[in-house]
Amino acid sequence: MARATTKRKPPVNQQKRQLIADVNKHSPIAEQYRTIRTNIEYSAIDKEINTLLVTSAGPGEGKSTTASNLAVVMGQNGQRVLLIDSDMRKPTAHYTFGMMNTRGLTNVLSRQQKLEDVVQNTSIENVELLTCGPIPPNPAELLSSKMMEMLLHQASAEYDIVILDTPPVMAVADAQILSNKVDGTIIVTSSGKTDREQIEKTKENLLKVNANILGVVLNNKPVDEKTYYYY
Ligand SMILES: Nc1ncnc2c1ncn2[C@@H]1O[C@H](COP(=O)(O)OP(=O)(O)OP(=O)(O)O)[C@@H](O)[C@H]1O
Ligand SMILES: [Mg+2]
Repeated sequence: MARATTKRKPPVNQQKRQLIADVNKHSPIAEQYRTIRTNIEYSAIDKEINTLLVTSAGPGEGKSTTASNLAVVMGQNGQRVLLIDSDMRKPTAHYTFGMMNTRGLTNVLSRQQKLEDVVQNTSIENVELLTCGPIPPNPAELLSSKMMEMLLHQASAEYDIVILDTPPVMAVADAQILSNKVDGTIIVTSSGKTDREQIEKTKENLLKVNANILGVVLNNKPVDEKTYYYY
């Protein structure tokens, strides 16, 4: 007798991730991302924000969602955007944009490839993506390398804005390492999930390395239907 096969759900990372800001440009959610974009522009008093890091205290708070949707609204605004998936622990940007991840950041940092040879065009106008590439055994070492600095230097000369997705601050040192090399850092918190103490610790850890914290994005805030549909 034939065994019934049940189709297994793909792991969370491989499930289709939606770029809300692209699907519906006029939705209140896309509008929220545009507000964040504007706030970032205005937060640069002395220095233009050319390189922007997105992080959070813990896992699953919405870093990757925020980073990709910000990339979309910035691209829609006519800025040339490079999104770098520098979360070498749990890369997801290639799933979000439906692209291959055979080569990426890892290959550039280990000097096997040049940025221009591995960067990919996305379906979104003005938005290019440097995926993570093969997961390396030593992410922190690669991210703190001179090569990473050179990459950021090159990218900020070629793009209007470079956005870095990173792992959580409270888990590994990667975001801390990178926040010291970029113009600005934003912390994503998840409504009702991130506790205040964790946010404070995250802020402290980032300030210790002289990160320029631009602000906090509150993600997953429950919306009341009435305000949600109110324009
Ligand atoms: N505002 C939101 N509304 C609905 N779903 C969301 C929202 N933000 C994030 N998600 C979903 O929650 C999950 C985690 O989000 P995301 O991958 O952006 O978090 P992350 O901080 O990057 O996680 P990780 O620490 O694993 O890298 C994803 O499946 C994402 O689609
Ligand atoms: Mg992520």
